[in-house]
Amino acid sequence: MSGRSTYYITTPIYYVNDVPHIGHAYTTLACDVLARFMRLDGRDVHFLTGTDEHGQKIEKAAAAVGLAPQAFADKVSVSFRDLVTRMNYSPDNFIRTTEKRHYAACQALWEKLAAAGDIYLGKYAGWYSVRDETYFVEGETEVGPDNKRRAISTGAEVDWVEEPSYFFKLSAWADRLLEFYERNPRFIAPESRRNEVISFVKGGLQDLSVSRTSFSWGVPVPGDPSHIMYVWLDALTNYITECGYPDERAPLWKYWPADLHMVGKDIIRFHCVFWPAFLMAAGVEPPQRVFAHGWWTNEGQKISKSLGNVIDPVELVNTYGLDPVRYFLLREVPFGNDGDFQKRALIGRLNGDLANAYGNLCQRVLSIVARNCGGKVPAKGPLAEADTALLERAAKLLDLVRAELAEQAFHRALTSIWEVIADANRYVDAQAPWALAKTDPARRDTVLWVLAETIRRVTLLVQPFMPDASGRILDQLGVPPEHRHFAAFDHALEPGTALPPPQGVFPRFVETAKAAS
Ligand code: MSP
Repeated sequence: MSGRSTYYITTPIYYVNDVPHIGHAYTTLACDVLARFMRLDGRDVHFLTGTDEHGQKIEKAAAAVGLAPQAFADKVSVSFRDLVTRMNYSPDNFIRTTEKRHYAACQALWEKLAAAGDIYLGKYAGWYSVRDETYFVEGETEVGPDNKRRAISTGAEVDWVEEPSYFFKLSAWADRLLEFYERNPRFIAPESRRNEVISFVKGGLQDLSVSRTSFSWGVPVPGDPSHIMYVWLDALTNYITECGYPDERAPLWKYWPADLHMVGKDIIRFHCVFWPAFLMAAGVEPPQRVFAHGWWTNEGQKISKSLGNVIDPVELVNTYGLDPVRYFLLREVPFGNDGDFQKRALIGRLNGDLANAYGNLCQRVLSIVARNCGGKVPAKGPLAEADTALLERAAKLLDLVRAELAEQAFHRALTSIWEVIADANRYVDAQAPWALAKTDPARRDTVLWVLAETIRRVTLLVQPFMPDASGRILDQLGVPPEHRHFAAFDHALEPGTALPPPQGVFPRFVETAKAAS
């Protein structure tokens, strides 16, 4: 951990040429879990998401539906805002690159780069992919059987572009970037991505075209409005626009440098090469960490509009429930790896990990408590070895999960939590509280207290992942809102606290013909 109390986390800002799909939902979900965890852990969090609204791609998409770019961006941006509500994300702000303050920040950054001598006027002649908003050298492209030239890495068509352009002297930054990666080993994660970036930079960097003249939808270059800024320079700047750049006395500047930029693996070069170079050239500290997660495929196939297999997160949530979807996406695939989305696997997790393991544990314990302990937190007698063992495992979870989330290892954090749930289920079976009712009611109460207390600890840690379901379980355990943050992790359940009647939180998913199709 950085040791600061602030925690600034960002999602990529999403292109408004398309409606949100599972990939967007995934990136923001990961950030949401971290933001919620850090808030519960006492950090002063700023969580930013938003939309990337300039560039040729958006201009083209707007023209295709007969709208002015601004009107088009206004319309599609709303669907990303709606996703925030549908997925129960908790951003502190939603930024749009068409905001005035963002123009000001971009132009201020440009002026800094120009004043530092890192920008010069030239002419770009080369390949450009509008879909990727990326320049490619010829060797990075190939001509397909249909006679169209495409970028090898992304498969997107490229066009020949020849126009006056300002360049950023990226070539001069290679050594300083390598030194920066060396001094900041945590800057790029996972390790494989770090190696990929380092070898790319070691291979030599070319100066980067940072302005365009053949279209106009973007931020004008200060002093030369026939040029608009390259959309990636514009887009990356959003992270500091939010903090008030260039006013370093702005109230939100305390959050910079960002603790974490979460990105997909496809946009790592922009975040780990261009962005720190721009910032260093402008005399601004680079972010502390960039994590690149993998990509989802759908039942073994690449997700694409042309294949018609795009996964709509809202549809998933309507079918399977919000919290189960949130859980599944972060549990199923080791974060950082690519993953294949399979309905079978989702249903398996929903019925196995959620309904059978966690839901059933809560239901079993809370219904015996309701029936046998007068609807109150049971009395706690002397603890046996098995009791202490389970309580200790649950008590260790906070440190464990904190360490795993510091590495963005969501799957491992969830595995650790679910191991304690499995222990608790074994403990219920071994202690058989229902059989103690007649022989030893005091012992039964202690067993139930140990279980309820274990569920409390587990559920506090489930909160960032499944905010709604965990809230309902904590309600049923009588945990007041002020005891739901991690400073109250050791605040054990108080015997005698009145409890509301228990209610199942994770129903089993029964497949209907429609869901199975
Ligand atoms: N606008 C740029 C980002 C600018 S940030 C300064 C952009 N936008 S995007 O909308 O195309 O993509 C946003 C994110 O969605 C990327 O991190 C990308 O990796 C992620 N995903 C898009 N498809 C995905 C999958 N199939 N699976 C997982 N994530 C994927 O890039």
